[in-house]
Amino acid sequence: MQYCKRLIEVDLTIKRISAHARREKSIRHGHISTLHIWWARRPLAACRAVLCASLWPDPVDPLCPDEFREVAREEMVTWAKKHITLLSTESFNRFVKIQKDQRLLADDLELRKALLDFIADFSNWDNSTDAQFLETSRHLTQVAHESLGGIAGTRPMVVDSFAGGGSIPLEALRVGADAFASDLNPVAVLLNKVVLKYIPRYGEELAEEVRKWGEWIKKEAEKQLAEFYPKDSCGATPIAYLWVRTICCEGPGCGTEVPLMSSPWLAKKKNRSIAVKMIPNHREKKVDFEIVENIKAREVGEGTVKRGSATCPVCGYTTPAASIRRQLKERHGGANDARLFCVVTAHPGQQGRFYRLPNTHDMDAVKKAHQELERQSAEYKGELSLVPNEPYPDETASGALSSSVLYGHTTWGDIFTQRQLLTLTTLVKLIKLLEEKVEDNNTDYVLACQTCLAFAVDRHANTETSLSRWNKVGEKIEGVFSRQALPMVWDFCEANPFSTATGSLKGAIDWVYQVCHTESVLKILECNGDAIMSLSQNHPLPNDFAQCFFTDPPYYDAIAYGDLSDFFYVWLKRSIGNKYPSLFSTQLVNTEDEIVQLSKRFRGPYAHKTKEYFESGMACSLAEGRRIVMPDGIGVVVFAHKSTEGWEAQLQAMVDAGWIVTASWPIDTEMGTRMNAQGTASLASSIHLVCRPRENPDGSLRTDLIGDWRDVLQELPKRIHEWMPRLAENGVVGADAIFACLGPALEVFSRYSVVEKPNGDLVSLREYMEHVWAAISREALSVVFSEADASGFEEDSRLTAIWLWTLSTAQGKDDLDSKVTVALNRDDPSEDESSNDEKPASKTKSSGYLLEYDTARKIAQGLGAHLDKLNSIVEIKGDTARLLPVEDRARYLFGKTEEPVAVKKKAKAKQAQPSLFDLTEDFEKGDSPVEPGMRQVGTPLAGTTVLDRVHQSMLLFATGRAEALKRFLVEDGIGHDQRFWKLAQALSALYPPASDEKRWVDGVLARKKGLGL
Ligand SMILES: C[S@@+](CC[C@H](N)C(=O)[O-])C[C@H]1O[C@@H](n2cnc3c(N)ncnc32)[C@H](O)[C@@H]1O
Repeated sequence: MQYCKRLIEVDLTIKRISAHARREKSIRHGHISTLHIWWARRPLAACRAVLCASLWPDPVDPLCPDEFREVAREEMVTWAKKHITLLSTESFNRFVKIQKDQRLLADDLELRKALLDFIADFSNWDNSTDAQFLETSRHLTQVAHESLGGIAGTRPMVVDSFAGGGSIPLEALRVGADAFASDLNPVAVLLNKVVLKYIPRYGEELAEEVRKWGEWIKKEAEKQLAEFYPKDSCGATPIAYLWVRTICCEGPGCGTEVPLMSSPWLAKKKNRSIAVKMIPNHREKKVDFEIVENIKAREVGEGTVKRGSATCPVCGYTTPAASIRRQLKERHGGANDARLFCVVTAHPGQQGRFYRLPNTHDMDAVKKAHQELERQSAEYKGELSLVPNEPYPDETASGALSSSVLYGHTTWGDIFTQRQLLTLTTLVKLIKLLEEKVEDNNTDYVLACQTCLAFAVDRHANTETSLSRWNKVGEKIEGVFSRQALPMVWDFCEANPFSTATGSLKGAIDWVYQVCHTESVLKILECNGDAIMSLSQNHPLPNDFAQCFFTDPPYYDAIAYGDLSDFFYVWLKRSIGNKYPSLFSTQLVNTEDEIVQLSKRFRGPYAHKTKEYFESGMACSLAEGRRIVMPDGIGVVVFAHKSTEGWEAQLQAMVDAGWIVTASWPIDTEMGTRMNAQGTASLASSIHLVCRPRENPDGSLRTDLIGDWRDVLQELPKRIHEWMPRLAENGVVGADAIFACLGPALEVFSRYSVVEKPNGDLVSLREYMEHVWAAISREALSVVFSEADASGFEEDSRLTAIWLWTLSTAQGKDDLDSKVTVALNRDDPSEDESSNDEKPASKTKSSGYLLEYDTARKIAQGLGAHLDKLNSIVEIKGDTARLLPVEDRARYLFGKTEEPVAVKKKAKAKQAQPSLFDLTEDFEKGDSPVEPGMRQVGTPLAGTTVLDRVHQSMLLFATGRAEALKRFLVEDGIGHDQRFWKLAQALSALYPPASDEKRWVDGVLARKKGLGL
């Protein structure tokens, strides 16, 4: 099929777009992310840029319609002449030149560059509602559509069949396309309905209505609930109540009520430290609390609970994790008999937060709330229970949802206290009442308003649970979904809905209002979108319906959307469920058909969600996408995953679905802290795979494109060789670059229906991928060693260098602390200490450099190295491979034993590990016996490989053995080998800047000149 290339198939200013996407993550006011929580939302900047570049043709392409070129030229000239001040400094120079001489744009390449500059600037959040940017982009989209064959007066249709939080369809509307969104999750569908239908239909009017009725709900709720949230007699308003769950100490004869306090700190800032002190009350077998200010850490002590077990402040006995689980299970998680230990208040006319112990008014209010809820429950006659009684995920879900499932929460209602439930059920009732209150004959309009305010209640529920926590640095409440999980919280925080602080009802309503207000521009633009609930595997749209299929499917095993969204589903079902019967017909969200690989993390209900399940479901969904798109249409599939297995499953699905990958762009979408349910780090960038249907003009799949394996193998390294430096120029390095190379690799393979070997055998994607990993590793090696000839180094040097490079990031290698390395598949050390997952300490404090085993194996294989034979530098445990830190190699390098690595492990278990100093001191004195790897002259026997020798020198430097280092480098001639210095130089650039290793290798390099080498 012949078609004109789109801009995205030739170029994209990914560095600039990435910067806007990263910045956007910290933007709050009016951003769609504040309408309602959805996990892993795409940044609008990336969606906007990708959409423009996918819908607009490349002016350089001979098939580009002249009409588009002409209009694009006119538009760019207008920008140069009239709107140049709206452009960024990066675009400014080009447009100044155009201003001076508009004939420059007669060159199609210049026109392409101007359009790409425009797109980069438009991706800036600040320009997203700017009239000039909107007008130009929409005009270009319209002209592109019509000149590429679209019916005059229509707009291009963009379909997203995994729409989630709605970023892609929202941006499709903004840039002048129609949008059709679908998702299997009813919560996601509702979000999309608000964004694609209600806001464009009712605009600012809806925003004002949300404000007005939001205020009414707040006032009504306050009338009904004020007695349960009493103000202080001095006029102060409680903003948060801090609770701690308790257990009974199982120490012999003790029985003390032990508060499960993870941290005693209430405020911990540079100039302000406030803590709660636990005072053992031996007589009453409990703990008393005292709030102390400006206190030193050692005077406060620590919390009582660590990694799931709790130490009694009275008898010192540690009740094990299993007993805590048992005790809390008996009490449905223990939120309702938790102890209130502190009330945080705000004083009128005074700045800051104040902390006090609870008084009888506080306790009475809680009791009364409890009684009131009981009374209302007894009277309640609804179809659904007043309080959500839908089952909470059981223990088998701990892998994806985290630890709250382990403590006996049997229903979704169990994760709230009685007072929280009273508040939320009251809000739900008020939302329902709106139906009568909002006087408008247009029921759709009333429903739009109700739905937006139901979202505000959901927002409030996020902070009104027993899984919310107090943030001692920000001195504010932190909602349950600060990460994509439901971890247990021992000492939780309850918001006062009627304060004005973070977590209040007012805040929740304001956030929703802001989005409606900001995006009300969609009404002025007369946008046209729709959202339905549908499985991506079986899409209702007809064949060849859309011009663009742009979607962002689940990232393999990253997020259990269905289970997480039940948190909101149970409340939405009660507030507006009857208005959307088809969305809320099931007890909970349909997780059965969710395409995700969860078999490894779940023991029970998701055992069938294997890699094969993911692959076939994804292939089916992407084939549906291809069917919906016109033969000359375009597809963009976003993917970001940290495992090679996840990537291979996704790529296999794309090939099976009949897509040809024509380009791929990594766009950096994450901020510094990136966490998912397992606390694992993920990639900084998401790869946007641009693709075209491999179809005949009539829409049937082409099966006659036979590729020659030899050609494919010849082209592959060339593509990777072109691509890697381009990525580096754009700041994409390390693991991000490795995965970003998969796109071009797939371009080479997927353009054929099948690839054949000379003997007629078909080549599987799996076989091809082995070659891909090898090509990528080799290319990375040449990047790492730049001018040096990498072939001169043994495999341990090559592997070490690539390993470190893989873990490096563009923002700075500071992310890689030498001791606690954020590995691609490991726990993130930045995890909040109060998270109560029962994790063994060793997992978060692992020294060395960790990679997922499969990634490490593939990289090693690509370099012609075998991981299992490199046990002097790599340790493999389960699915993790650890590159040993240099310090851990000391025994091997200084030859204390004949089986250095194995013996070292034994020594660790039985006796204290000899220090680095001990190991090197012996030979410095020259008095140690001759053992393998050592000699009496005080220098180590030179290691067998260049890497060993560099590491030996680093250790000599590290322990201050200047003389020995000199003898080693000069007299033993180690420093005369140029490979030694080249490797040291390369490692200096690769070790994390703050690491010991970096300091040591730089120390060795600094001696070079002085030693005359
Ligand atoms: C990565 S998220 C999409 C995020 C979205 N782009 C955003 O910006 O918020 C993937 C979505 O796929 C949906 N999903 C998973 N399996 C599905 C299926 N079989 N059919 C339709 N949607 C599915 C999930 O509910 C989730 O919303």
